[in-house]
Amino acid sequence: MKNVSIALLGCGTVGKGVIDLLAMNKSLIEEQLDTAISIKKVLVRDLKKYKQMKLPKNIAITTDFEDIINDDEIKIVVEVMGSADFAKNCIESCFLKGKSVVSANKDLIADYGIPLLKLSQKHNVDFQFEASVAGGIPIVRPMYSSLNSNAIEEMTGILNGTTNFILTNMAQQGISYEAALTEAQKLGFAEADPTSDVGGFDAARKIAILATLGFHSELTFKEVSVEGIEKVTQADIQHATEMGYVIKLLAVAKQTNKGISMSVYPAFLQKNHPLASVGGANNAIFVHGNCVGDVMFYGQGAGSLPTASAVVSDVMNVITHFNNQITGKRRYLWREDKKLYSTSR
Ligand code: NDP
Ligand code: HSE
Repeated sequence: MKNVSIALLGCGTVGKGVIDLLAMNKSLIEEQLDTAISIKKVLVRDLKKYKQMKLPKNIAITTDFEDIINDDEIKIVVEVMGSADFAKNCIESCFLKGKSVVSANKDLIADYGIPLLKLSQKHNVDFQFEASVAGGIPIVRPMYSSLNSNAIEEMTGILNGTTNFILTNMAQQGISYEAALTEAQKLGFAEADPTSDVGGFDAARKIAILATLGFHSELTFKEVSVEGIEKVTQADIQHATEMGYVIKLLAVAKQTNKGISMSVYPAFLQKNHPLASVGGANNAIFVHGNCVGDVMFYGQGAGSLPTASAVVSDVMNVITHFNNQITGKRRYLWREDKKLYSTSR
C-alpha cells in the first residue's frame, strides 16, 4: 500500500478531531484509497500543553513552521489554526513548495479564498476547504461540483451554530440572551470572541463563500448586509411564538434584478418552514437550482469529529487526485463583473 505523509497546522478542537478520526476509521479510509495516511508533524504554539495531551508517539510536535515546509515527504498540509494572516502566509509557502492544502478556516477563505485558489492552480496543487462552511455538512463541494449543472438562483441558510443555539434556547427554555450565550461558550460552539457569531459576521463570511462558488462570481463578505441577534429579546421571542413563528438568524444570497444580493438578519419564520425546526447548534442550507429545484442540507455545523469529517474527506479527495494524477486541474469559474450566466429558463 502507498503512504502519504501529512502535517497539521493546529491541534485544537478540529486538529485533534482529525487525529482521532484517522485512527477510528483507519482501515475504511485506507482501503478506499489504497493509500495509508500518516500524520508526520503537528504545528502548535504551546509545546507544553500538547506534551500533556498524549498524541500518538509517531507524530512530531513542533512550534516551527520551517520543520514542516522543508520536509519534502509531507505532501498535504491541513491548516486548522484559525485567523487569517499567518495561515495565509503558511498556505502560500506550501503552494510554492508543491504541497496541497486543506483548510477549515472560514475567516481566511472569506478574505483570501479566490487569490489562494488562483495561486494553487498556478502551482498545480490542490486547495480544498469543505469544513470552512457549516462544519460537517457537505455544502462547499456541492456548490462547485454536485450542483454545478444548475444555475443556482438562491441559497438560504442557518450557518452559525452559536446564534441558533441561543435563539433555540431562548425560545424553548425561556432563558435570557446572556445566559444562552454563556452556555454556548461553555459548550465550545462560540468563537473565542463571540462578536463574530452574535454580530452575524461569521454567517456573513460563510454565505459569501457559498455565493462566490454557487454564483461563479467574485464576491466578498464585505458586500453582505449584516444584522446580528444582539438586540433580540425574550419579549421578541415570546411575541414570535404567540404568532406561530420562530426567530432564526438567516444568511441569504440570491439573484435580483440588480445583481447578487447577500444578507444576514434575524427573521421570523413560520413554524412549518423547514428551517424553523433546525434546533440547537445545528446548521442547514436550502439551495434552489434552476433544474434540481429545492435541495436542503442539514447537520452539525461545528464540533471536533463533525468538522474533522469534512477535513479528512478533503484530504482523501486530494489523495484521489494524486492517485489519478489530476492534482490542481479543476477549473473554477468566476465572473469578475459579477453578472450571472444566462440560462434559457
Ligand atoms: P482551536 O483554537 O481549538 O485550535 C487552534 C490550534 O491552532 C491550536 O492547536 C493552536 O495552538 C494552533 N495555533 C493557532 N495559531 C497558531 C500559530 N500562529 N502558530 C502555531 N499554532 C497555532 O481552533 P479550532 O480547532 O476550533 O478551529 C480551527 C479552525 O477550524 C478555525 O479556522 C475555525 O474557524 C475552523 N472551524 C472550527 C470549527 C469548530 O467546530 N471548532 C468548525 C468549522 C471550522 P496553541 O494551543 O498552542 O495556541
Ligand atoms: N462559531 C461557529 C458557529 C463555529 O457557531 O457556527 C463553526 O464555524
